[in-house]
Amino acid sequence: MQGRHFLHIPGPSPIPDRILRAIAMPIIDHRSAEFGALGKEVLEGSKAVFKTSQPVVIYPSSGTGAWEAAITNTLSPGDTVLMAETGHFATLWKQIATRFGITVEFIPGDWRHGADPVAIEARLAEDKAHAIKAVMVVHNETSTGATSRVAEIRKAIDAAGHPALFMVDTISSLASVDYRHDEWQVDVTVSGSQKGLMLPPGLSFNAISEKALAASKTNKLPRSYWDWQEMVKINASGFFPYTPATNLLYGLKEALAMLQEEGLDNVFTRHQRLAAACRAAVKAWGLEVLCQNPDEYSPVLTAVLMPPSHDADRFRKIALEKYNISLGSGLGKVAGKVFRIGHLGECNELSLLGALSGVELGLSAAGVPHRSGGVAAAMASFEGQDKANETAVAAVA
Ligand SMILES: Cc1ncc(COP(=O)(O)O)c(C=O)c1O
Repeated sequence: MQGRHFLHIPGPSPIPDRILRAIAMPIIDHRSAEFGALGKEVLEGSKAVFKTSQPVVIYPSSGTGAWEAAITNTLSPGDTVLMAETGHFATLWKQIATRFGITVEFIPGDWRHGADPVAIEARLAEDKAHAIKAVMVVHNETSTGATSRVAEIRKAIDAAGHPALFMVDTISSLASVDYRHDEWQVDVTVSGSQKGLMLPPGLSFNAISEKALAASKTNKLPRSYWDWQEMVKINASGFFPYTPATNLLYGLKEALAMLQEEGLDNVFTRHQRLAAACRAAVKAWGLEVLCQNPDEYSPVLTAVLMPPSHDADRFRKIALEKYNISLGSGLGKVAGKVFRIGHLGECNELSLLGALSGVELGLSAAGVPHRSGGVAAAMASFEGQDKANETAVAAVA
């Protein structure tokens, strides 16, 4: 097809040219002093994105590996953990824990909301014997477009006076949504490279608190490749216990520089701005956003419900074939019922408007009932947001 492909799935996200160029460099000896300097720089630099001063380890793996690492380094067979059924990814993380012999109490959810801090506090308050060893939540549920309120969940754990470890999956939120590993006293933050960090898939992360590192000295689940102790020890000099993904680390160095140049707060504001315009388009089409709580609307992606008896995958196929745009599929329970528009990472007003044009044209081509004017509504949203910002600045001056 002519022209560029519009990749608007909620990750992997498009890779900026700067990062592609940084990756396309000759490989170096991963035992050399040159590598040690690179390793130190990216291991240290990553901490700013997690907002932590504690160790961050980087695995050459997809995010699933970092999920497994969080579990195997902290828990023991027979332990109980508390999780919230926010959607497909929470369900997959639960499945991994279950395979390792962990009992998961899964607070049921309707896949239209984030994790409920009130329900978490109530369950922890009941657990007087402290049988629950960890609370594990997905920050941005990529299958539904609902972002859990991690700061409030921290408060809920504290209000219950419960000592459970707190583990958070930020695979699709890191570097797109405000996140504070230290301030929110998260014990293990899990993340991945292919979303807000604008890198190819292939790197995953664990940010680790002192409490989690201490748990890893006595927990009973076996691990080797994922072992933190070995990793943290060798990382101190910038090296890895095995062959690292050297060229992806060149890319990470560039991504961290880009995020620092833009400023993390500006990155977060840009994501919110794009998400608000996307929701304005969905509303104008007369379609429904899957997430039902405005406080939990995802800045990263918008999942859109199809009108009854219209198949989301058929619509996505037509949009791809006619307009060269990839939209995210519905996953698990909502397969065929929703499509997802990614607006993360290397995305700006015009790339989003292009994608929304593709959606609007695709809806017509697929005969999906909708009103026109979604793209115009997104443009009006940008203009409205600009006016509101100008008024706010004027009020301060
Ligand atoms: C929230 C979330 N958690 C976990 C994963 C799994 O990560 P990976 O596919 O990189 O193994 C994903 C992937 O999209 C995700 O969005």
